[in-house]
Amino acid sequence: MADEIFGKVAAMKSQILSAEAADADQLEAFRIQYLGTKNSIKPLFAEMKNIANERKKEFGQELNELKKVAQQRYDELKAATQQSGDASETVDIDLTAPPGELQVGARHPVSIVMNRIINIFTKIGFSVEEDREIEDDWHNFTAMNTPEDHPARDMQDTFYLKDSTTRLLRTHTSSVQARVMTTRQPPIRIIAPGRVYRNETISSRSHCQFHQVEGLYVAEDVSFADMKQTLLYFAREMYGPETKIRLRPSYFPFTEPSAEMDVYWGLKTEDDYRITKGTGWLEIMGCGMVDPQVLTNCDIDPEKYSGFAFGMGIERQAMLLYNITDIRNIFENDVRFNRQFRSVI
Ligand code: DAH
Repeated sequence: MADEIFGKVAAMKSQILSAEAADADQLEAFRIQYLGTKNSIKPLFAEMKNIANERKKEFGQELNELKKVAQQRYDELKAATQQSGDASETVDIDLTAPPGELQVGARHPVSIVMNRIINIFTKIGFSVEEDREIEDDWHNFTAMNTPEDHPARDMQDTFYLKDSTTRLLRTHTSSVQARVMTTRQPPIRIIAPGRVYRNETISSRSHCQFHQVEGLYVAEDVSFADMKQTLLYFAREMYGPETKIRLRPSYFPFTEPSAEMDVYWGLKTEDDYRITKGTGWLEIMGCGMVDPQVLTNCDIDPEKYSGFAFGMGIERQAMLLYNITDIRNIFENDVRFNRQFRSVI
C-alpha cells in the first residue's frame, strides 16, 4: 500500500519535471494543476494516515520536495515563455531575403561645379579661403571701394540683420578679398567659394541665395595680361581645350579697369540661341585689376603691389552644364532632383 503511494509521488514528480508550456495559457494550466488552491499535490498529504509511522517522515519530505520541484519548474517555464514571447514580437526577419538596394548619396550640382572650379585653380597655386556669410558693411562694401553714398550700393539689394545697419548677409564673395588682404601681405593667391545673398524676387532665373567663387591674385608686377592668361586657362579647363574667351569693358567699384568675361558657347542648336541671346557668347564672370584704393583700404602698398580679381556665379554655370531650367530646383533639395546627379563625381 505505502509503496503504491510512494510510486504516485514519484510519477507526479517526473510528470512535473517533463512538463512543457508552449504559451502563457499552458503555463497558467500548469500553475493551476500544481500550485493552485486545488492543486494535485494537496490530496497526497491526506495519504499520510495510510503511511506507517516509521516512514511518515520520509513521506513528508517527499511531498515537500514535490512542492519545491513544482515551483521550480513553474519558474523555469515562465522564464522560457516570456523569452520566446518577446522574441516572436521583435525577431520577425527573413534571413534568406536578398538585401535591399543600397542608398548611395548624390553630390549636389552646385558642389560638383564648385569642386571643379576649385580643382582648376588649386592646380596653378591658388589656395582656398572660406569666410563668414554674416559680414559687416566695411568688408562687404566700404573696403571694396563702395562707400555708403556710392551708387553701386544700389546694384545689390542687401539683407541687413534685424536691428542692424552694419551687419548683413554678404552680397558677394568679394568681402573675402578684404578679409584676406587685411590679415596678410602679398603675395596673395586665393579663391573664395561660398554662398551669397541678395534681396531678389525668386523666379526660375534668380534666387535670393546663390554661390560664387571669388579669385584674388596680388603680388609685384601683376598685369592685365596675367589675368587674361589665367582666365583663359580656367575657361579651357572648364569648358574644353578649344574654348574661346573675350573680355568686354565693364564697371565694378573694386577693379580698375574692369571687364566681363564671356566664353564662346556656339550657336548649334535653338537652345544655344536662347541661352546666348543669339550671340553665341556666354557671360561667365566679372574681373579686373584690383583698384589701388582697395589695396590702400586693406593696408597694402599700391606702389609696390598690383593684382587682379574675379568673381563668378556657380548656379548659372551648373544650370548650363546640367541643363537645369529652373534655379529653384537647386535649393529645394527634392531627392528626385538630387538623385539625377548620382553618377556624376
Ligand atoms: N562681386 C561681383 C558681383 O558680385 C563680381 C566680381 C566682379 C568680383 C569683378 C570680382 C571682380 O572680384 O573683380 O557681381
